[in-house]
Amino acid sequence: MYNPTFDPTKKDPVILGIESSCDETAAAVIRGREILSDEIASSASTQALFGGVVPEIASRAHTDAVADVVSRAVKKAGITYDQIDAVAVTYGAGLLGALLVGVSFAKAFAYALNKPLIAVNHIRGHIAAAYLVEKALKPPFVTLLASGGHTAILYAKTEAEFEILGATLDDAAGEAFDKVARVLGLKYPGGPNVQRCAMDGSPCIPMPKMLKGGGGYNFSYSGLKTAVINYCNTKKQKGEDFSKADVACSFQCAAIDVLVEKTIMAAKETGVDTVTVGGGVAANDYLRLTLYAACQKEGLKLVLPEKRYCTDNAAMIASEGLVQYRLGNFAKMDLNAKASIPLSATWKTGDKV
Ligand code: KG4
Ligand code: ZN
Repeated sequence: MYNPTFDPTKKDPVILGIESSCDETAAAVIRGREILSDEIASSASTQALFGGVVPEIASRAHTDAVADVVSRAVKKAGITYDQIDAVAVTYGAGLLGALLVGVSFAKAFAYALNKPLIAVNHIRGHIAAAYLVEKALKPPFVTLLASGGHTAILYAKTEAEFEILGATLDDAAGEAFDKVARVLGLKYPGGPNVQRCAMDGSPCIPMPKMLKGGGGYNFSYSGLKTAVINYCNTKKQKGEDFSKADVACSFQCAAIDVLVEKTIMAAKETGVDTVTVGGGVAANDYLRLTLYAACQKEGLKLVLPEKRYCTDNAAMIASEGLVQYRLGNFAKMDLNAKASIPLSATWKTGDKV
């Protein structure tokens, strides 16, 4: 009989996190906010052959890897299965078939060990990565969330309650990086390759202002993406050469500057003293440098997770699992995967959009 118990007073519970929402199969073990192990198997190199993530290939790769990745994570953590206090798994958003592999495995694992199961929302995981970097981090703070599916500025009231200050009105920042990479003929994954290409260029090509200096805390990336496509197409039609590096650099500056500007504005207007970041775009070196410099200038503390904890990983899922564990918020064995979870459905109170 599955009848797990939990101890809400336990100081540093041991949480196993499992993540399989896209092309990374990941498992990690944390004790409190300390990372004991963090394992990843990625199908990115196979996906690169197809120019993007093929859902069926991702699902098969997860099925092949998940048992081994979890067992490696537990072994490297130096714990026995019995010492695990709860199993946290990403249930959405992401590729349905990919998510189902992690969810099914986590359910079976939790059932076999008779341990509580925790359903983790992937984007909340990205935000919770900051707790692993700065163990004393406490809300309130402002978070910049910039991934392949979401771009938003959030005000964290508590570990579990957020207010959406602003969000993208169309494409996410990561999505724009991936589309620009494709236009420039750069390989998947787009973001890191645009960054690499931009290193040899200068921001000399005028780009649209987007919602810089306006639009509150909202963003819009579709105009920027279209401007890049139009620039490249016009040059090609006229038979003129152009520098891919300059295009990448001009795009990167426009895409990132607005994120930095609005994050700082949000921190100042809400009066917090700390800014955190999460999501794959937070692995971008230009963003990391400019946000660091801007926070220094404004006297704000920046909690910047290592790059591997910005892109998809399971330690962040375990970290959000810890938040839910302390709330006693557990899933049942009928937990199902969800392909999409709107940002506005993610936060309990204070939503503005
Ligand atoms: O958070 P993430 O790993 O997955 C999602 O939850 O979406 O974010 C992936 C996104 C992709 O769009 C990828 O191109 C972007 O993050 N990304 C980057 C960089 N590394 C990953 N974008 C810009 N610069 C990077 N270095
Ligand atoms: Zn992600």
